Parts: sequence; C-alpha cells; structure tokens
Amino acid sequence: MSKKHPIHLERRDPHEGLRLQSPSAGRNSAIIAEQLASILPEHANVLEIASGTGEHAVASCKARRDIMWRPSDPDERSRQSQNAWRTEIPEQMQESLAIDTTKPDWWNGLESYKALFCANMIHIAPWEAALGYAAGAQHLLGSDGVAILYGPFLEGADTALSNLEFDANLKDRNPLWGVRSLDSVKHIFADVGFNLSARIEMPKNNRILVFSHRNG
Ligand SMILES: C[S@@+](CC[C@H](N)C(=O)[O-])C[C@H]1O[C@@H](n2cnc3c(N)ncnc32)[C@H](O)[C@@H]1O
Repeated sequence: MSKKHPIHLERRDPHEGLRLQSPSAGRNSAIIAEQLASILPEHANVLEIASGTGEHAVASCKARRDIMWRPSDPDERSRQSQNAWRTEIPEQMQESLAIDTTKPDWWNGLESYKALFCANMIHIAPWEAALGYAAGAQHLLGSDGVAILYGPFLEGADTALSNLEFDANLKDRNPLWGVRSLDSVKHIFADVGFNLSARIEMPKNNRILVFSHRNG
C-alpha cells in the first residue's frame, strides 16, 4: 500500500446500531437489485463476496423474495454492519462469513451455490482477488450456476474517460489496484470453464457481467 494514501473504501456513514450506510450503495443498490432479480435462478442461494455495508444484500433480497443470500467480507466492521442489516430480513439473509478471495482454497467447507455476486471489489484489491473469485466460481457453482460481477472495466478503445481516470487514481493509491480489463476478466473465467453470457450497461459506466458454465 502506498504511504501517501491509506486504503480508502467508499464513504460509509453510521446508521442505526452497527448498520453502516454507503451513499454509493444507497444510489445503486436498487438498480443492481432490479437486474439481479432477472438474472438469478429461481430459489437461488447466493454467496456475495465483499458485501461491504450489506445494503446490496438487503435490496436484492427484497427484490426477490424466493432467494437466500449469504454475505461475506474479510473486514470485521463490514460483517458487523451486514449482520445488523440482516435483522431486517433474517428469513432470507444469513450470517456473514469472513471470506478473503486472495486466500488459498477459501471455498473449503462451504456449501455449493447457484450464484456468486461481487460488486466493486476486484479493482480495489490485488489481481489475486479476481483470480480467487473465478476459482471460487469453479469450486462452488453447479453446472447451472452463475458468477456475477458489478463495477467498472477497461474496454479498450471503448473505455470511458471516467474509468481511465479512476484507474489512474486507484494505481496512485496502491499500485496493486486498478480498474480491470474486461478481456483479462473474461480470460480468468474462461480458464475455469465459464463464458461471459451477459454484459449489462449500468449508470456511470459500470457493468454487470454474468459468467455461466460453458457446458451448463
Ligand atoms: C469498495 S467496497 C465495496 C462494497 C460493496 N460490495 C459495495 O459495492 O458497496 C470493497 C469491499 O471489498 C472488500 N475486500 C477487499 N479485499 C477483498 C478480498 N480480497 N476478498 C474479499 N473482499 C475483499 C473490502 O473489505 C470492502 O468491503
């Protein structure tokens, strides 16, 4: 990590009890949940990686009452917030797990899932975190499972200027961070048997990427 800039997560404000509220999650959780509602298989159990405050979990569960959602985060304060939000929908949202996708075999001991979801993480973590997410998809998803990513991506000549600026800003904070290229992300999923089955344009040059088993 650069000494000049400590790790900056998105802004998070204290809310009721241990709940945290992120203005950015507040702005985009409803539109993400709306898209997830049409992507997630019926009665899906979902493992969310890097759940942050937990607000995407709540919004997504409210948009699809048939799903079960397991949040996670390596950061304890984030997990406390997720568990505090969980009290709003305990029948759908499970206790948060301490998962860091850079750790080897992080999926050991977990049940299998119909979907993995991860928003805004792979650009503020080393590339190994993205590799670990793809490897987790290989180990945890059945043949009809989907791995979903939300965030900004570099898309060659089509990359939005705001994403190029964000990439430079991230790298200045930490040389291991950076907006990831869509092609590299496609490659790491291809290596574990997944194809990009949907690419959805979202506000502010973000994307939802859906990866499905090649032979699913
Ligand atoms: C920018 S926040 C995004 C939070 C939430 N997904 C959202 O979109 O509002 C990034 C989150 O990634 C988590 N994180 C960082 N490195 C990680 C890793 N290697 N594995 C899993 N989560 C990680 C952080 O603790 C933090 O909660």
